[in-house]
Amino acid sequence: MKIVMAEHRGFCYGVKRAVDMALASTNANCPVHTLGPIIHNPQMVSHLKAQGIDTANKLDEIPAGRVIIRSHGVGPEVYHQAETQQLEVVDATCPHVKKAQQAAHALLTVGYQVVIVGEQHHPEVQSIIAWTNHKAQVVETPAEAEALPYYPRIGVVAQTTFAAKEFEAIVTVVKTKCEELKIERTICTATDLRQQAAIDLAKKVDIIIIVGGKSSANTARLASVCREAGSLAYHIESANELKPEWFTGVQVAGITAGASTPDWVIEEVYKKMEEMNVTDVVKLEAGSIVKGTVVGVRHDEVFVDIG
Ligand code: F3S
Repeated sequence: MKIVMAEHRGFCYGVKRAVDMALASTNANCPVHTLGPIIHNPQMVSHLKAQGIDTANKLDEIPAGRVIIRSHGVGPEVYHQAETQQLEVVDATCPHVKKAQQAAHALLTVGYQVVIVGEQHHPEVQSIIAWTNHKAQVVETPAEAEALPYYPRIGVVAQTTFAAKEFEAIVTVVKTKCEELKIERTICTATDLRQQAAIDLAKKVDIIIIVGGKSSANTARLASVCREAGSLAYHIESANELKPEWFTGVQVAGITAGASTPDWVIEEVYKKMEEMNVTDVVKLEAGSIVKGTVVGVRHDEVFVDIG
């Protein structure tokens, strides 16, 4: 069995930055908490706990010390409450999310009805809503956009992880709901890159393993785009969930991972797959393939074509 890793996989810039900021915030002299799990990955949450960083669901649960704002961001009231409680804020909001929050706030300030294209209950969307004084409307589908009332001016922002194609389809409908439309395309390319790399890989392999937290929306989305591309796809959280029977008769297997999956979790999955099928294992990098030949070796990785 050959194993192919997706060209773009695992931690995105914003998640890596947030995790690095959290790890740099440990302090023996004061308690450190993240507000909500730093990422949708239980292994990483346990790793942070082992470093002395606990998770709190609300600021009220934090008596003193430092609070880390995760990459999804929060609304202005959270900063105010943290100040009132004299907590030290470590703001790890992803800069792309910050841009979406600021765009929404600016649109509201100059009189637009803000429409967020995204998932109503996603923490990032909740944070953007808060920056519009909770006045934004959220739409996730063209049908929901169709149900919007008519406004003179609408300003649209996107949840950073929203699919670009679906965003455009929704915007087409929103255009019919107002006199004047301003669009802020606040989609982050990390999601698109991971999805496109997953689709490219899914088309070339017999089975694809998607690694990431079960509650991670972007990981679940990777699994669904792989299935839509016609591949047998399994979404697992860790190597322990792999089943040998999945690989019976498999010639080429793929691995990809959501934006909140640490490298070490991906590597454990790779190693376990190697152990399950020890003959003819070749680790491939999808982006470095030249048809029909072994084209090079970097570290322990062999680059060949998979046809
Ligand atoms: Fe930021 Fe994009 Fe990741 S918005 S948190 S870099 S998916």
